[in-house]
Amino acid sequence: MASMEPSSIANESLLQSNELYKYILETTVFPTEPAPLKELRDVTTSNNNNHPLDNVSTTCPLGGQYIGMLLKLVNAKMVIEIGVSTGYLTLLTALSIPKDGEILAISPYPKSYELGLPIIKKAGLEHKINFIDSEALPILDQFAKDKLNLGSFDFAIINEAQTNNYIDYYKRLVKLVKIGGLICFSNTLCEGYVTKQEQEVPENKRHFRQQCLNFTKEISQNPQVEICQLPLSNGFLVCKRLY
Ligand SMILES: C[S@@+](CC[C@H](N)C(=O)[O-])C[C@H]1O[C@@H](n2cnc3c(N)ncnc32)[C@H](O)[C@@H]1O
Repeated sequence: MASMEPSSIANESLLQSNELYKYILETTVFPTEPAPLKELRDVTTSNNNNHPLDNVSTTCPLGGQYIGMLLKLVNAKMVIEIGVSTGYLTLLTALSIPKDGEILAISPYPKSYELGLPIIKKAGLEHKINFIDSEALPILDQFAKDKLNLGSFDFAIINEAQTNNYIDYYKRLVKLVKIGGLICFSNTLCEGYVTKQEQEVPENKRHFRQQCLNFTKEISQNPQVEICQLPLSNGFLVCKRLY
């Protein structure tokens, strides 16, 4: 396919077949990827290491397509995105929610978001995005203080740089998301290290791996949510709030 960059077909998932991953992208992902999203993906891959403190990475196009489908299936209107890079997922969400939908997009590295912002503006979707330049946890605490915000979101997605414990996000988000709403966590299989012995795991991944193990154990025993974990990218765990 002429439009495909080599970086786009790198196997970012745990699926152990590059051919199969390429096949999926070529047959069902790239042909339907909206033009502004492709443009933003290209900008992201050509600007890696733009910000010294931020790891400029983005949701893989297959994961993005799946998230877009979920957003539409639950008719998401109010969305929280934790961990914004150049805005690929933010733009994808803006394309998937209705005209009066809103995204609370939180990240402490606005420089990365500024890379994608011109494309978001060109697509006429900036009005749907409330970008907050901050660490996410204090913002969620602030939001939860206003009773009007409790149960007011349809969908939340966490894809930050593996710094905070997912349980801390879950505890806050389960109050902000309505009953029936979804909370989605990326990287829950920690690049596959969840099944390795600690000594086989690079030191810089050990802490996050342990957090993933603790989170998965806790969430799988939590009756307030129904869960489903997929081997998509580095693991994608969806929680549906039941009460
Ligand atoms: C994997 S990238 C997110 C990719 C993005 N969801 C997308 O698909 O375009 C992770 C991002 O999390 C952000 N981040 C890091 N620590 C954070 C924190 N404590 N709260 C919110 N965002 C954070 C960084 O800006 C980083 O770009």
